[in-house]
Amino acid sequence: MTKEKEIVVSGIRPTGNLHLGNYFGAIRNYIRMQEEFNCYFFVADWHSLTTHPDPKDLKGNVIRVLAENIASGLDPEKATLYAQSDVPEIAELYLLMNMLAYVGELEKVPTFKDKVRQQPQNVNAGLLTYPVLMSVDILIQRAVKVPVGKDQGQHLEMARNFAQRFNHRYGDLFPEPVAFNYGDNLIRIQSLDGKGKMSKSENEMATIYLNDSDEKIRQKLKKAKTDSGSGIPGEPMPESIQNLFELMKLVSTPDTIKSFEEAYNNQSIRYGDMKTQLGEDMVKFVAPIRDKAAELQRDTTYIEKIMKTGAEKARANAAQTLQQARKLIGLNYY
Ligand code: TRP
Repeated sequence: MTKEKEIVVSGIRPTGNLHLGNYFGAIRNYIRMQEEFNCYFFVADWHSLTTHPDPKDLKGNVIRVLAENIASGLDPEKATLYAQSDVPEIAELYLLMNMLAYVGELEKVPTFKDKVRQQPQNVNAGLLTYPVLMSVDILIQRAVKVPVGKDQGQHLEMARNFAQRFNHRYGDLFPEPVAFNYGDNLIRIQSLDGKGKMSKSENEMATIYLNDSDEKIRQKLKKAKTDSGSGIPGEPMPESIQNLFELMKLVSTPDTIKSFEEAYNNQSIRYGDMKTQLGEDMVKFVAPIRDKAAELQRDTTYIEKIMKTGAEKARANAAQTLQQARKLIGLNYY
């Protein structure tokens, strides 16, 4: 008898352009997981409505984020890829689950409090119930593993709480999902200006996007911050230099890394050369992904086909869970 593969769910936000931080933090994890698990990866388009995006941008953003993920190695033959809004079962279970979610606990969620601070003019109910919707994204597929970063830990804890609460009141239905990453050393890609992580919206010149042109990448690397410091024994390596070495480890050959490490240690390193080399290696890494993503984005028929096939599979699995939830709640009249 073959053992059923464990179910994995993750949501991808359709905002901003994907960058190296997304690639090494999340996408690489997905690519590995699709080999081992039964993966459902979706574009979280309903979630994105909390900030009222322009309707004419939505489709392009969804297609772009899917194209970039597929170009990076997500395989629609292996993982189920879909748009959240193509699975209406999620909306119904969300309604049902809202009855078990307390306003008090939702108001305490740190990500909600952040949003209240950031957009006090738009504190809508969708924002408050974001964790309920996210929990349902996961629970409706009966997922046990969720590849997310630390910032989503609280949301996952809520998903477990809602699962328990439902199971306790109505009968066993939902497994309790846990966060999952290979090893626990989630790579954090620092921005090139030394001010925090690479990010979707801030510091564009310090972030390498998967759709940056070769020239743009070279230019950004040239401008990367380098504090002086050159391997004087006993002195720690400046953070900005550590950061360049970290980036090299992601995209350069072992020989290249070794030669710059040696140059650092014997104090002959020239950071200009290091940044030029890193720029070239980064171009080699990003260019094929960028070009493939651009090609996929032009082939909207292909992306639409993937979305439809994915939605069918996601709906079939979700419908089973929803059917059981209705029955357990007592909503089975016929
Ligand atoms: N909240 C996640 C984020 O901000 C996106 C997300 C929505 C998600 N639903 C999910 C992640 C379900 C994992 C599982 O990145």
